[in-house]
Amino acid sequence: MPLVLGIETSCDDTACAVLDGEGRVLSSVVSSQLAAHRPYGGVVPEIASREHLTNWPLVSGEALERAGVSLAEVGVVAATRGPGLVGALLVGLSVGKAIAFASGLPFHAVHHLEGHLFSPFLRPPPPGAEPEPAEPPPSRFLGLVVSGGHTSLFAVDEGRVETLGETRDDAMGEVFDKVGKRLGLPYPQGPRVDELAERGLPGGSGGSGARLFRFATCGDTLDFSYSGLKSQALQEIEKLERTLGRIDLGGDAEPAQPVLDLLADFRAAAVAQVLDRLDRLQAREPIGLLAVSGGAAANRLLRRELPDWARRNGVDLRLVPTVYSGDNAAMIAHAALLRHRRGLPADLFSAEAESRIPL
Ligand code: KG4
Ligand code: ZN
Repeated sequence: MPLVLGIETSCDDTACAVLDGEGRVLSSVVSSQLAAHRPYGGVVPEIASREHLTNWPLVSGEALERAGVSLAEVGVVAATRGPGLVGALLVGLSVGKAIAFASGLPFHAVHHLEGHLFSPFLRPPPPGAEPEPAEPPPSRFLGLVVSGGHTSLFAVDEGRVETLGETRDDAMGEVFDKVGKRLGLPYPQGPRVDELAERGLPGGSGGSGARLFRFATCGDTLDFSYSGLKSQALQEIEKLERTLGRIDLGGDAEPAQPVLDLLADFRAAAVAQVLDRLDRLQAREPIGLLAVSGGAAANRLLRRELPDWARRNGVDLRLVPTVYSGDNAAMIAHAALLRHRRGLPADLFSAEAESRIPL
């Protein structure tokens, strides 16, 4: 099997990776554009595209160098075609097509979610040792993707993917970002809110036991909804401010305990919703194997609760290694490798960058 070069530029990370034919990650370079977007509190599409163009030569050079290979040794090229910011996607997609065309190589345009969906089968780099091959995904499994753009449950069966449920409004990572932004935290707020929540007690200020937040039930469907939780959190922050004064966690000041408790309660409700949908799914039909991925799969509480949940329910769990939870190109190269193995046709010119596409 050939070496695969993966490219991911769907949002604000410029990423390039090299995988071998067994799915060993020989290199995975992610250049974040945090500094460029931080003054605006979120991602600015125009800036993202320009940054990708500037970063690409360095990022790709670094990926090849770390993998210890030359471009001439690459056998398959893959890039994300969407969903994402069209201008940002176009940079990676065009570069990928150009490399494939110039070298006469097959090119795979990969759906961003397909990358996340199969990423739990990548093995984390063992410190100081050789990378390990990816685990071959079983033909049937359930996938949960929790990111800044998606909160979705998928059933994968012989390469066919069926959406079982998805968020009706905001995604899980997105509400972490929005609540953090309201508290004056710099972008990206999700990981920081998670860190602060570690120091709070869910169950109301001072650990009174009264929970502030409930999660949305969405009838008896497998859909998710996070906008209610977000509004509730924003209201509770406002209430706190009436006693504490303006809360701004952007500086060095130590956050007040009630703020930490509020965040812990908020995070607990966000994670409880995920576990509730898994309970429902499991009640319908025993799950077998569950693969969890996406940026918000780095959430500490989720990473503690999921293995417990899986053990209680006899479910085989693959939780994406945290190095591959956020956007990266190893997952794109990996998805392309799986396509290549299944003998799916490559497409060079038909793939267009698209902001919204179903999986
Ligand atoms: O998969 P990803 O890198 O990009 C998308 O495809 O959306 O996910 C990024 C999202 C952001 O919303 C970020 O705040 C969230 O994942 N995130 C987290 C954590 N780490 C990243 N959300 C909650 N807890 C975290 N530890
Ligand atoms: Zn993503």
